[in-house]
Amino acid sequence: MLIQRPADIPPSEITPPELYARRREFLKTTAALGISALLPGAWREVWAAAPADDLKPTPYKDITSYNNFYEFGPSKTDPAEYAGSLKTKPWTVTVEGHCEKPGQYALEDFLAPHSPEERIYRLRCVEAWSMVVPWLGIPLSKILPRFQPTASAKYVEFTTLLDPAQMPGQRTRLLDWPYLEGLRMDEAMHPLTLLATGLYGKELPNQNGAPLRLVAPWKYGFKSIKSIVKIRFVEQQPRTTWASEGPSEYGFYANVNPEVDHPRWSQKRERRIGELFRRDTLPFNGYAEQVAGLYTGMDLRKNY
Ligand code: MTE
Repeated sequence: MLIQRPADIPPSEITPPELYARRREFLKTTAALGISALLPGAWREVWAAAPADDLKPTPYKDITSYNNFYEFGPSKTDPAEYAGSLKTKPWTVTVEGHCEKPGQYALEDFLAPHSPEERIYRLRCVEAWSMVVPWLGIPLSKILPRFQPTASAKYVEFTTLLDPAQMPGQRTRLLDWPYLEGLRMDEAMHPLTLLATGLYGKELPNQNGAPLRLVAPWKYGFKSIKSIVKIRFVEQQPRTTWASEGPSEYGFYANVNPEVDHPRWSQKRERRIGELFRRDTLPFNGYAEQVAGLYTGMDLRKNY
């Protein structure tokens, strides 16, 4: 087995947060010295992908104790309290739909041969609050082509585990289970879209969606579906959980957009966990330069 688990990654290989925070200074220096090409590949990608913003990582404790994971209850503290017992080993990911290589893959095979996992810091914004999360993960664009999606694969649908015995929230009608999400194929193949397997250099805690969750950093948090068991290539835009629950409140695209208010609150400003004052929310969560082109010609007030 080739894949390197977070536990096997030597601490020296994990991007130090202080260094990351001084990214711009560092970039300028490496550019001036002409040595940026000497950086390990994953690091180069990280520097290039990060938005021009203050990226001081949110403390591990906050990232892992203030969660949304309705399978374990509706309160922000429920996942940390109840998700611990979710059995994430062994884990199988089913790939189906419009592709040449459908099948059931053990997680290790599904992720192989992407080794070592890439270390990426990503800003994540969730409605009125946000966190800066140092994710560990693999760009989805490096995984999907292995299954050889066909020309009919226009969207990718993701499904969370359905197991009421392990997920007490699923014994209620809180949501129409299982949790579903989707991306348009070009969004799924964008280099910023990640399948996360860890954070802060450690394996993903259950409350954050172990063992495999999506991270779409320019979208509101609900797009980042947790504990994924199925990936399906489909031709039509798939049904997604929150867009079905409240179509006037949540759309399929869910791009972070300070100009489009949620019917019950403004989306102009956000509270970053750990900070006292709210800050302006940036279009596409600060990644406009990288992703705005995906939506050229679309009315983003209608396609929210
Ligand atoms: N995935 C599943 N399966 N169930 C959920 O309830 N909540 C979503 C998303 N993924 C959710 C989910 C919402 S609303 C948010 S804001 C993020 O997970 C929260 O991710 P975090 O707990 O890692 O911060």
